[in-house]
Amino acid sequence: MSASVDIRSVSKSFGDVHALDGVSLAIAPGETLALLGHNGAGKTTLFRILLGFIEPNSGEALIDGLKAGCRQARRLISYLPENVAFPKTLTGREVVAFYAQLKGAAASEANAALEQVGLGEAASRRCGTYSKGMRQRLGLAQAIVGNPRILLLDEPTSGLDPLSRNDFYQLIAGLAEQGTSVLLSSHGLSELEARASRVAILRQGHLVADGPLAMLQRDARLPIRIRVKTKPADAETLHREFGGRRINGASVEVTCEPDEKMAILAALHQRPGAIADIEVIPPSLDEVYRHYSRANPDKEARS
Ligand SMILES: Nc1ncnc2c1ncn2[C@@H]1O[C@H](COP(=O)(O)OP(=O)(O)OP(=O)(O)O)[C@@H](O)[C@H]1O
Ligand SMILES: [Mg+2]
Repeated sequence: MSASVDIRSVSKSFGDVHALDGVSLAIAPGETLALLGHNGAGKTTLFRILLGFIEPNSGEALIDGLKAGCRQARRLISYLPENVAFPKTLTGREVVAFYAQLKGAAASEANAALEQVGLGEAASRRCGTYSKGMRQRLGLAQAIVGNPRILLLDEPTSGLDPLSRNDFYQLIAGLAEQGTSVLLSSHGLSELEARASRVAILRQGHLVADGPLAMLQRDARLPIRIRVKTKPADAETLHREFGGRRINGASVEVTCEPDEKMAILAALHQRPGAIADIEVIPPSLDEVYRHYSRANPDKEARS
């Protein structure tokens, strides 16, 4: 069985603070959507609306066509909150068995979930002795136990080392392949490269981007840098001809729009004797994220 998420023009204010403003997002079964945004952008508020903890002021959130928060909708969802805390005296196994039973699953399913997150060997230890990353993985185990159809993970990789992050994304990919819909929040685009099929970016409660990472990169139309290593005697001439800036005496870096790149490379190709090497540097994912997170109303996501 698979289930989908449909967020339709959802707005939520807390007094004067517009935490979410007309946000529409849909997540299909088996899709992994990464939700990004600065502190206070509205990510956790969106999760809380999907869980039915709070009601939107306008718009609606549907879980498999059901109103978010109703009993049947809640049964489809599992949640990893941004700050996980468990009773310190319980073992990892006891914690996950407890959550399994809350979801109507067998307590024995806890072992498989703990194995999946790499806590098999620590399952009998009291979770008060766990490291930060281990506590985060325990949180993930309680989220995945009971085979939920929709996973809401609020900053699931915070506190995880790079290797554990990799394991985490592999685990998520496996669940998505089985049809689980995953919505996860994160703070940076770079860790999502080649890992999230789709990325949505919130800025001050507005959805400012929604699509595959490659599309967001392309649409951002950020400048490209062309770094030209010159023969020592030719640096000045090339700098005068192509502009840009000099680096370490023997390099010139030219910044251009994406559609100017080929013309500049063709012009450089005419100067083979003067050039030792050429490096084309595309915008980094952090630059792409910063671009969408800056105030820029022209870039509102297509609904
Ligand atoms: N219960 C509340 N009462 C008042 N303001 C709130 C409440 N919950 C959220 N807000 C405000 O709504 C805005 C969005 O908060 P939210 O927690 O959704 O952000 P976030 O994107 O999850 O941020 P972070 O990355 O820091 O976790 C913030 O300005 C926050 O102060
Ligand atoms: Mg948050």
